[in-house]
Amino acid sequence: MKTILITGGAGFIGCHVVKLFVEKYPDYTIINLDALTYAGNLENLCAIENAKNYKFIKGDICDRNLIKALFEKHHIDAVIHLAAESHVDRSITNPFDFAHTNIMGTLTLLNQAKESWKNDYSGKLFYHISTDEVFGSLGNEGYFLEDTPYDPKSPYSASKASSDHFVRAYENTYGLPAIITNCSNNYGPNQFPEKLIPLFINNIKNNKALPVYGEGLNVRDWLYVEDHARAIDVVFHKGTIGDTYNIGGFNEWKNIELIKVICKVMDTKLGREEGTSEKLITYVKDRAGHDMRYAIDSTKLKENLGWEPSLQFEEGIEKTINWYLDNEAWLNSIVTGDYKDYYEKQYVSQ
Ligand code: NAD
Ligand code: TYD
Repeated sequence: MKTILITGGAGFIGCHVVKLFVEKYPDYTIINLDALTYAGNLENLCAIENAKNYKFIKGDICDRNLIKALFEKHHIDAVIHLAAESHVDRSITNPFDFAHTNIMGTLTLLNQAKESWKNDYSGKLFYHISTDEVFGSLGNEGYFLEDTPYDPKSPYSASKASSDHFVRAYENTYGLPAIITNCSNNYGPNQFPEKLIPLFINNIKNNKALPVYGEGLNVRDWLYVEDHARAIDVVFHKGTIGDTYNIGGFNEWKNIELIKVICKVMDTKLGREEGTSEKLITYVKDRAGHDMRYAIDSTKLKENLGWEPSLQFEEGIEKTINWYLDNEAWLNSIVTGDYKDYYEKQYVSQ
């Protein structure tokens, strides 16, 4: 019996984590706290919204009174903290929002956990979900390891790095039991179509240009979102307090190569002649300060806790494309006014 506060559970990764925990652990009470920003969508959670062990609370992680009341009312045993502003391009135009949510929001949760748990830390856990982007950018060789020095280069990664440092500081200063995981790029169902893969699937479907930043040579390491959720489950239950674990797919792709795979699969699915979607590729002005390469070494997680990715990329991308094609209503309903506005501003001058 545990009561777990999951933050950001209406977002992309959070909804998969909430679903996994609600379904797999009927004895746990899962409280999902989410502000429902543009990136949060309760439709992601239809499958479990009426489950007895699940409760949704709409609220902001920066709201200290709310967080205090929540801890007091529900006797929270553990936090799995995913809520964040998560899109690099938005962080470039709006860094203050990222500092506010990602730093102040994390600090608010940490401080309340410390206050509520300080007389007895046993059985308690603050599990902070972070990104490989805190390590900065790699050249052609090498991998991010758990002890790679932090070197964040975008306002997004700087805000996440800062939140990671606060987690470590609370652990060191107040003894708060905490774990951090740093994961590579996720892909899969329910991702907001501002991120590369769902954006390009949606654009191909609608015969719109595919805006490739720079020369498309940047490299990302892609992990299927359900594999990330499984890793979170494993680390939550078996991870060592105070430890940090990298999570990745050992699955590096140059953007342009990845985009060509998506184009090819989409041509087949849509019954278009091979090569049709590739014609939509349009090279646009590069992202400011665009990190060249991310690559995670997740050997520690495999060796210590036995986790490894379950899906090959070819299978994962096919499942992902099928999901977006089968869930047209989901895709259309979240392409909101805010998003259209963002899209126009983001790509207008390129
Ligand atoms: P997302 O943007 O899809 O979802 C974020 C969720 O947080 C949304 O539901 C949003 O409504 C909620 N939220 C935002 N601000 C809030 C606030 N102030 N209070 C309460 N809720 C708030 O993000 P995601 O891709 O699911 O990422 C989840 C976490 O995983 C983030 O911490 C991100 O840094 C981390 N991460 C993401 C990736 C990736 O590839 N997407 C990779 C590694 C780590
Ligand atoms: P993104 O999905 O935004 O994730 P991140 O920046 O966190 O890695 O972008 C993945 C890669 O795709 C990144 O190198 C930027 C590139 N990209 C484009 O070329 N065009 C686009 O329109 C977007 C959104 C991303």
